[in-house]
Amino acid sequence: MQFRCETIGNATLYQADALDVLPRLKERSFAGLLTDPPYSSGGAFKGDRSAPTSSKYQSAAHRGIYPEFQGDTRDQRSYFAWLTLWLSRARGLIVPGGLGCVFTDWRQLPTTTDALQAAGWVWRGIAPWDKTERGRPQLGRYRAQAEYVVWGTDGPRALAGPVAPGVFRAPVPNVKHHIAGKPVAVMEGLLAPMEAGAILDPFMGSGTVGLACQAVGRPYVGIEVDATYFEIACRRLQEGLNGHSNPSA
Ligand SMILES: C[S@@+](CC[C@H](N)C(=O)[O-])C[C@H]1O[C@@H](n2cnc3c(N)ncnc32)[C@H](O)[C@@H]1O
Repeated sequence: MQFRCETIGNATLYQADALDVLPRLKERSFAGLLTDPPYSSGGAFKGDRSAPTSSKYQSAAHRGIYPEFQGDTRDQRSYFAWLTLWLSRARGLIVPGGLGCVFTDWRQLPTTTDALQAAGWVWRGIAPWDKTERGRPQLGRYRAQAEYVVWGTDGPRALAGPVAPGVFRAPVPNVKHHIAGKPVAVMEGLLAPMEAGAILDPFMGSGTVGLACQAVGRPYVGIEVDATYFEIACRRLQEGLNGHSNPSA
């Protein structure tokens, strides 16, 4: 199978389904996994989950600004199976003891911690991303203010290396490049305790993890199935390489 592949500085970007690319990457060649997969969330029922990503993850005022993204309509059982499948393949690519970080939301938190363990990772914790008071207010309820990074290791990990925060506080960026765009600063913080070496991101979106890797001088491999978002990621990384300032997400 042929994929589109672009090399931009230290970054290698594939436009393909992650499940097609992961088996072709070299075993144990990555220092860590840092990725933000589709959550298949956004509602309690199958019909809610099958709605367009813009209506699930954006207010009506912002719909239509960003392209829809793919792979977000699985029901609960198939989402668990799919997470387990790619997390298992990804684990074999990370150095023994290496860190794996996977974003999720409150609805999919239990499924994600189950899948991480089913895929053979040792589940070590949850690092909340506190989106600050700019998170969506909800009348008579608690503000939708956090998403979560489920993290674990491939087997035992030595108690050595830098200490990193366990909560990351940063607002959703003003300028986003993806419906589900995350702040580059949060990704940089998550990279900090990982060993030197390349980072694997099977769900690249607009390339936010890649930009964080670029900022700290790490090799990066990103995979994105959607052609539009692949182009956006290539553009952002190229601009970063050319020294153009990149808005925060
Ligand atoms: C939550 S978004 C990532 C957003 C990213 N963190 C950012 O800041 O731009 C997940 C991305 O995974 C992509 N995706 C979904 N299924 C995929 C698959 N099977 N293989 C590769 N990419 C996939 C979607 O198109 C989407 O862009």
